[in-house]
Amino acid sequence: MRVVVAGGTGFIGTHLCTELDQRGHDVVALARDPSGAGLPDGVVTKRGDVTDRDTLTGPVADADAVVNLVALSPLFKPDGGDEMHGRIHRGGTENLVAVAEEAGVDRFVQMSALGADPNGTTHYIRSKGRAEEIVRDADPDHVIVRPSVVFGDGGEFVHFTKRLKEIFAPGVPVYPLPGGGRNRFQPIWVGDLVPMLADCVDGAEHAGETYEFGGPDVLSLREISELVFEADGESITVVPLPMPLAKVGLTVLGSVGFPMGRDQYRSLQFDNVVSGNDVTAFGVTEADLRTFEEYLGLATADDGAETAATA
Ligand SMILES: NC(=O)c1ccc[n+]([C@@H]2O[C@H](COP(=O)([O-])OP(=O)(O)OC[C@H]3O[C@@H](n4cnc5c(N)ncnc54)[C@H](OP(=O)(O)O)[C@@H]3O)[C@@H](O)[C@H]2O)c1
Repeated sequence: MRVVVAGGTGFIGTHLCTELDQRGHDVVALARDPSGAGLPDGVVTKRGDVTDRDTLTGPVADADAVVNLVALSPLFKPDGGDEMHGRIHRGGTENLVAVAEEAGVDRFVQMSALGADPNGTTHYIRSKGRAEEIVRDADPDHVIVRPSVVFGDGGEFVHFTKRLKEIFAPGVPVYPLPGGGRNRFQPIWVGDLVPMLADCVDGAEHAGETYEFGGPDVLSLREISELVFEADGESITVVPLPMPLAKVGLTVLGSVGFPMGRDQYRSLQFDNVVSGNDVTAFGVTEADLRTFEEYLGLATADDGAETAATA
């Protein structure tokens, strides 16, 4: 298959292009600046901007499948303000779908996010929901993927946790987390996610499906933060930052140039866990997946088995 991966130079994109290349597909990674992406030699890179339809026509012309990984992070406020979410997620998806239809593409894989909803509470979630609607109405067979937060080398999740502390409590072992960091995530390792994503590209049985993917553990932001700092050999004490104070703080910080704002404040109020883990549709169980603690070097894959055996 000839597969165009829009956003193929990013965190998940680099891993996905590598996997598709290893499966023998002809892969094109498309981005605004694809230079120095660290992709295998077999992957062709092309310039394109999803907000400019004309730049997509050539790269997509003879594709069998298109994967849309282009997005702004929900964790950090985008340059250019919140309206950028609509331009990139909804408008960018509209453009990619239009050129895919013109080119007669067979399969369109859309990376969405848990909770995507056209009427949702954040710009990120609303624009992701609108993008899903566009993909469902499109001509090509589609697969929509909604992962919880993804961790792995090159990802920003661990960095985000540290950045929050730099913002709220630089240089002290106390970590005031909005609401005490009670909101929960189900982090999934990029090395587990990507083979399933690749199956969504080349597996006929996945056409028309919307999948939710999460890792083996549900962890609160507080637990995640404690693990991240423990892995660095630091001990922190999490204290609750009342949500109204966090709202004011993040809004003010956003207005003076920090990468945070109201959207990030709202994101911190909601859980990011799956309603049912669709990894099973790929012959995988949660027990097969890498835990966040294993990734951080705080546990080994055998720890769980030993605990279970001695319990
Ligand atoms: N990472 C997570 O934890 C997570 C969790 C849930 C869902 N997702 C979803 O997974 C997808 C990939 O996430 P990621 O973490 O890999 O993102 P990422 O590392 O930020 O990569 C984004 C990619 O999009 C490209 N891009 C950005 N704006 C573009 C534009 N206007 N036109 C064309 N390309 C553009 C970037 O390259 P250039 O800047 O050079 O253009 C880059 O290749 C996104 O849809 C995201 O919402 C991620």
